[in-house]
Amino acid sequence: MTIELIRPTTDLFESWAEAAAEFGDDHIDGSGLNAPVTPDRATLDALIEKSDLLSDTTAKLPEGSVHNDLYWIVDDGEVVGFLSFRHDLNEWLREAGGHIGYAVRASRRRQGCASAALALALDRAREIGLDRVLITCDDDNIGSARTIEGAGGVLQDISDQTERGHALLRRYWVAL
Ligand SMILES: CC(C)(COP(=O)(O)OP(=O)(O)OC[C@H]1O[C@@H](n2cnc3c(N)ncnc32)[C@H](O)[C@@H]1OP(=O)(O)O)[C@@H](O)C(=O)NCCC(=O)NCCS
Repeated sequence: MTIELIRPTTDLFESWAEAAAEFGDDHIDGSGLNAPVTPDRATLDALIEKSDLLSDTTAKLPEGSVHNDLYWIVDDGEVVGFLSFRHDLNEWLREAGGHIGYAVRASRRRQGCASAALALALDRAREIGLDRVLITCDDDNIGSARTIEGAGGVLQDISDQTERGHALLRRYWVAL
């Protein structure tokens, strides 16, 4: 397995569409898209435009938006998941979203894809000069909690985030 983080590209359209379809109507964390995703060329073209804008640190973004690297988690040409790395925290991200969100397609879970992708995202965070990142997950999301703890995440708190669309949420900091 050789996990890479690759920005959205038409080169991997078919694999991206298959990966997105595997989520059905579920929200795809880290994909940059709202559920339900229609995995067609128009959606991908709009995603590429969004990805180009959000990752351009010279671009002025609308109030409340933060610069963001939208990545596909790719293994040997197959899109196995999604990862979003926010460069800064706004109020919502500080309380609930964190710096990094991710999801792995069901057929590729429990194979180390999320752990490998998170390690690469932490390299990216170091590259832009962060000294720690916030990563959150639902209290009952054992797979995500173990992924974060495996990357060195230290639990800050578990809080009720019902108002922000979560129930009990764990917030972890990873020192870089
Ligand atoms: C959470 C998720 C990203 C994990 O992806 P993954 O590629 O399967 O994770 P990994 O294979 O790298 O596993 C990392 C660790 O979590 C453990 N793990 C993963 N899924 C697990 C599960 N369902 N139950 C228990 N442990 C689990 C692995 O055993 C591994 O532990 P280890 O390092 O101690 O061996 C994936 O289940 C997913 O996409 N879920 C839906 C979306 C989501 O919840 N995203 C996170 C939002 S915060």
